[in-house]
Amino acid sequence: MICALPGNEPFAERLRNELGMDRIEMEWRRFPDGESYIRFRQEVKGGDLALVCTLNDPDSKALALLFAARTARELGASRVGLIAPYLGYMRQDRRFNPGEAVTSVHFARLMADAFDWLVTVDPHLHRRSSLGEIYPIPSRVVAAAPAMAQWIKANVSRPLVVGPDSESEQWAAEVAAACGAPHAVMSKTRLGDRRVEIEAPPLAQWKDHTAVLLDDIISSGRTMALAAVKIREAGLDAPVCLGVHAVFSSDAMGALRQAGVTQVATTNTIAHGTNAVDVAPLVARAVTSIHEETNHALHAR
Ligand code: R5P
Repeated sequence: MICALPGNEPFAERLRNELGMDRIEMEWRRFPDGESYIRFRQEVKGGDLALVCTLNDPDSKALALLFAARTARELGASRVGLIAPYLGYMRQDRRFNPGEAVTSVHFARLMADAFDWLVTVDPHLHRRSSLGEIYPIPSRVVAAAPAMAQWIKANVSRPLVVGPDSESEQWAAEVAAACGAPHAVMSKTRLGDRRVEIEAPPLAQWKDHTAVLLDDIISSGRTMALAAVKIREAGLDAPVCLGVHAVFSSDAMGALRQAGVTQVATTNTIAHGTNAVDVAPLVARAVTSIHEETNHALHAR
């Protein structure tokens, strides 16, 4: 059974079409004082339920999501899984300054208490080598790289895949290899939430290529915008910007336009006007795989 939290219906429908699950509808509304009211409209007893909720802007969604998961268990669902195409709270994975909350760990504990399994797409694993280090429940990480490589092949001629920082090398190299393109990686220093400094490697040799800037997250857009400026300074045309997760804080698009960027494409892990790459078939495969794994574990008990 699959149930979309509000705003996640299109992605859940894509999964339902791929997997043929039953749809459970959930009502979520706010009382006048802002508290959440939640109700499942169909029986979940005895079922295997997957809740679909992408977790950008997580503070506005997490509490209702936890209420829904706990309610489904109370109502007798045999397992409750979370499909979070974008998984928030992955950034603060260390105490960088005294007194800071390591929110990735706290958030993971809250979710892991309420859910039996988790499927997500390219979580921002920076200083952690795997999702299992933070989430103590069975999980699957879907790589958007194959879908992004296909999109580049179909839409960009003579691509040069460019990662705007060293963390993005993992995606840039994989996507470039999958579409038979060269790749280059820049080096970024973050100076604040909306301020970065970027150094570019020599790019002039690729002047006859179309740069495709590739990153996992487009949030303030400052990383992509400055990287685009560096690409143009090297004598290439403005790049195509390709992001996995379209977080897009308020003025991100403006920053990209100001940098001369005219083409932005993202996957549909977060619904946004730039969505061009469908990762639902890859997520569906991961859901099938984790369902089989947790099924075996359940029957082995
Ligand atoms: C962080 O290092 C990520 O890989 C992205 O580069 C980052 O989240 C992009 O953020 P922004 O769009 O705010 O520059």
